[in-house]
Amino acid sequence: MKTVDMFLLRRTVRTSVWTNHFRRLSASQTHWNERKGLVLGVFENKEGEEGSLHLTEAAARFDQSLSGKLSELLNISGPVLKKGKSRVFYGIHKDFPCVAMVGLGKNDAGVCGLENWDATKERVRQAVSAGCRLLQDLEVNRVEVDACGDAQSAAEGAVLGLFQYDQLKSKKKSKVTTQLYGSADSAGWEKGVLYADGQNLARLLMEAPANHITPTTFADSIEERLAAFTERVTIHKRAQAWIEDQQMGAFLSVTKGSDEPPVFLEIHYNGSPDSTQAPLLLVGKGVTFDSGGISLKPSPSMDAMRADMGGAATVCASIVTAAALKLPINIIGLAPLCENMPSGKATKPGDVVRARNGKTIQVDNTDAEGRLVLADALCYGHTFNPRAIVNVATLTGAIDVALGSAAAAVFTHSDWLWEQLHKASVVTGDRVWRMPLFQHYTRQVTDCQLADLNNIGKYSRSGGACTAAAFLREFVTAPHWAHLDIAGVMSNKDEVPYLRKGMSGRPTRTLVEFAAGLAHMTK
Ligand code: BES
Ligand code: ZN
Ligand code: ZN
Repeated sequence: MKTVDMFLLRRTVRTSVWTNHFRRLSASQTHWNERKGLVLGVFENKEGEEGSLHLTEAAARFDQSLSGKLSELLNISGPVLKKGKSRVFYGIHKDFPCVAMVGLGKNDAGVCGLENWDATKERVRQAVSAGCRLLQDLEVNRVEVDACGDAQSAAEGAVLGLFQYDQLKSKKKSKVTTQLYGSADSAGWEKGVLYADGQNLARLLMEAPANHITPTTFADSIEERLAAFTERVTIHKRAQAWIEDQQMGAFLSVTKGSDEPPVFLEIHYNGSPDSTQAPLLLVGKGVTFDSGGISLKPSPSMDAMRADMGGAATVCASIVTAAALKLPINIIGLAPLCENMPSGKATKPGDVVRARNGKTIQVDNTDAEGRLVLADALCYGHTFNPRAIVNVATLTGAIDVALGSAAAAVFTHSDWLWEQLHKASVVTGDRVWRMPLFQHYTRQVTDCQLADLNNIGKYSRSGGACTAAAFLREFVTAPHWAHLDIAGVMSNKDEVPYLRKGMSGRPTRTLVEFAAGLAHMTK
């Protein structure tokens, strides 16, 4: 052996001895630093139900192991824990210095026809998220979680509840890892973690400032997230020249005022064992910043328009999640990504542009740009002969006026598609609500002085979400198409208790659940 080789070998051996020594040390150190906590559920007694406490299975077992210490403390520490309320006990168990008890409400909820959601699941999400956050504030870094009868919802509550966008702050919230406690349903837990991770990915992209998430960096981040699934996924980041070749004049008209190059992101997820199966097509509005263009928006709250790529974020995040779940379905995701900015090169009110399908559009308001980028993406999407098309967009302020943040609006002529989306949303609690696609609204966008279509309705603000949907419909020929206007659910103040204040990532879980429903459908 040459001297150099000997030297290298010796050095390698020495390094590995050191590394192992260091690893042993740091592993035990991690153990010393670990602060473990536990979240356990408690129900409220039903009407007429006697008895002191109604603990979940896991909580009852934990209580037994402590010879009833937990129930004793619960009884003496205050009133019965109501839905969403929580209380922490310290030092009652050697493995868990902090135990958070969370109120689940009465154990008789289930699907509520009036609220259009599964109230039991919502209560579990809410309670678990509250318990996890309490422990996070106590700088507990490892939390074990009671399934509370629904491991998937518990995982969603934990992972969604703990999410905080503090990437750009020097002082960050303490990182918390979560795991299932006292339940055999690890499959349900894992599924919930993936659903919530998906929504958190959309939140991350939406919350990030527009100088960080540009069309280029958006596409790169999604490519990175999909790198683990290259066997089933192909991705194309189409540049300006391709977009011009495709004659996407409507999309290009929006990009003109910006110095950031546009990207047309195209993702193919081939999860079906039948590679010829018609794909589900998801299209997301990807305006990484919407200033309004020449029809400039007022400056207060303009910063929120960094999330105007929420459609693209939720669509791409749901495809990442579908891949992680290995859903047996083919999905194509399209995201026209660009900025809407004013400049000497920007599109001007009254300009006429030509979409990919040859239709001409008079752009009377450059702030109604979402429908322009989607028009070309929808035309292009038809070339894949999809089994269904769902587009998702933070399209109109008008839908926020109509529905607020209660539900995403669904405009569709397909009862089948509506039922699939609605069914999925009842499970996830991230609700949808159906809205009309009447000719009444179509007339308001087709009555146009210079072109085939006007990009705003002729009665300006009236029915703004409906005229926007009617506009999109002019670019769709497929029978099963739905447009989701998600402007109202884009951000969260405190309406959804298991999401902190900020961009919501809604309705990612509903899109995933919807895709999972189609995947397991024999049609
Ligand atoms: N991105 C906005 C819609 C929006 C508003 C999303 C608030 C999220 C929160 C969209 O591009 C827009 O500006 N729409 C206009 C349309 C109008 C000019 C016809 C609107 O809603 O005011
Ligand atoms: Zn706009
Ligand atoms: Zn917009």
